[in-house]
Amino acid sequence: MGLAKELFECFRGQGKFSLKDAYLKYPDKPKESIRARIYENLGIRFERAAAGVYCTCSGKEGCLVLEGDGRDLSFLKDESIDCILTDHPWEDEKSNKGGNRAFSKYPCFRYTEGDFREKARVLKKGCFLAEILPEENGSNYQYLYGIKQMAEKCGFLYYTKVPWEKSGFVSNTGRKSKNTQDIMIFSKGKARALRPDRKKGDGAVMSGAKGMLPAKFQIPPVPKKERLHQSELPVSLCEQILEFVTCEGEVVLDTFAGSGSTGEACLNKGRNCILIELLKENVEKIQLRLKRKVQEEERHRKAGSTGRTI
Ligand SMILES: C[S@@+](CC[C@H](N)C(=O)[O-])C[C@H]1O[C@@H](n2cnc3c(N)ncnc32)[C@H](O)[C@@H]1O
Repeated sequence: MGLAKELFECFRGQGKFSLKDAYLKYPDKPKESIRARIYENLGIRFERAAAGVYCTCSGKEGCLVLEGDGRDLSFLKDESIDCILTDHPWEDEKSNKGGNRAFSKYPCFRYTEGDFREKARVLKKGCFLAEILPEENGSNYQYLYGIKQMAEKCGFLYYTKVPWEKSGFVSNTGRKSKNTQDIMIFSKGKARALRPDRKKGDGAVMSGAKGMLPAKFQIPPVPKKERLHQSELPVSLCEQILEFVTCEGEVVLDTFAGSGSTGEACLNKGRNCILIELLKENVEKIQLRLKRKVQEEERHRKAGSTGRTI
């Protein structure tokens, strides 16, 4: 457990605590590190009560599930979201034709500039937008380029693209569809500082994601038999992305939530989330997923393990 989390757990529910209390609690840790962890987490884990006096932020991470149109974000305040991680239901009939590739059984569409304007409005400055998109092919390359252009026009900077390779095995699916999707990452303006500065040390951070992003995410897809949703993302993929672009306690938005893998990943990693899904049948799948998680944690708790309760 990191020092910030330890401090949070230690003073959670205690009301106010001073820096001196924190130093006494961790006599073997350098005072500067303790201070740095508290300052870094102001508004996330800790709140400032007075000079040198802090309290822990109340409330645990939670998940808000909304049945509705994820393209209508009018209910969200400007700059209220720390990250958008979403799996866009793109429309591409050409790529899906042929073989045993199945058409999507859910509504699909193509993004417009208005979608990116709204994402930019609700996202905080410097925060990340991660879009899960199809890998480029002959029928979608213009659309994918269009996404970058629309995003840029609305104030996003293209940060990077990391492929999600679903398995080492490449089936013979022709030119149009392979075993890969792309995670396209943008920042709203200059990326915020999450990257530890190894040279300066002592909690100093530089602009950019929390660590060096991998050349690719190699994670097997959810086995068909276990899938709740036709296009279900592995929870571990969402968890890995979240770890690079968010901090604990922050608020993540998934506008096209499907069966809610982003939500489960957020709860596993101590993030709050807002999930929006259009279809009632999928909202029920999200509820099923979250109920399953609560039951699992309850079992752990009863068995005396240290699992978190929600
Ligand atoms: C690619 S799937 C997401 C799958 C999800 N990542 C998962 O792991 O289960 C896209 C989802 O967006 C939903 N959807 C389509 N249009 C939508 C809209 N306008 N607002 C909200 N959800 C929408 C679809 O019903 C579908 O469940």
